[in-house]
Amino acid sequence: MDVKEALRARRAVNFFDPGRPVSRETLDRLVELAALAPSGFNLQPWSLILVTSPERKAALRKLAWDQPKITDAPAVFIVLADREAWREGHPGFERNFKEMAASGAMGEDRRGWFANACKSLYGQSIEHSQAFACKNAGFFAMSLMLAATELGLDSHPMDGFDQDGVRREFAVPESCWAILLLAVGYFDRTKTLAPPKWRKTAGEIVLREE
Ligand SMILES: Cc1cc2nc3c(=O)[nH]c(=O)nc-3n(C[C@H](O)[C@H](O)[C@H](O)COP(=O)(O)O)c2cc1C
Repeated sequence: MDVKEALRARRAVNFFDPGRPVSRETLDRLVELAALAPSGFNLQPWSLILVTSPERKAALRKLAWDQPKITDAPAVFIVLADREAWREGHPGFERNFKEMAASGAMGEDRRGWFANACKSLYGQSIEHSQAFACKNAGFFAMSLMLAATELGLDSHPMDGFDQDGVRREFAVPESCWAILLLAVGYFDRTKTLAPPKWRKTAGEIVLREE
């Protein structure tokens, strides 16, 4: 499947076949494909809570507008964005710096420069940190949906949930924001998928050319 086909084939499918499981191996493949998504300074400020047990999916559904796809789909990811992953001392920052040093991309002597660059871009205010986390995790979430399509899976993104409730119930780390719930599984072929939705045209999207 090429990118164009995947972009066209991906849909937010409302109905999942509850009788078709997805193996953990397939879910891990999906996650590792999606992890090819780009991120600022390659900081990868994303993580996932994978919810598969019927009890935990039921608990999540209660916090997510009672959306049936949460319990119908075999797997639901809570996609997390970490506002602090740019900060020196954070495991994300440290892992990234270690990898850059090991690959020769950045010498140990550049640590101070790198820490300051991250701070000046992402640490100016809570808005900057939140934007850093959410934009990068958003790219990752989109990659998850496209990778699911490539693997023959269907998916459904959801904003309709109680942020505070999900944080409490699923022990979301303090520095993270739950950007999305993503149900993954197989479309229930006994149901009818809504026709493709309208999209803005290039003329509407490009505000002006300067
Ligand atoms: C960030 C985000 C949040 C969404 N939240 C919900 C939701 O809570 N419930 C729902 O039924 N659909 C939700 N959707 C699905 C959108 O309605 C859907 O993607 C859009 O109508 C376009 O349809 P398509 O994905 O099939 O092309 C969400 C989509 C995104 C990207």
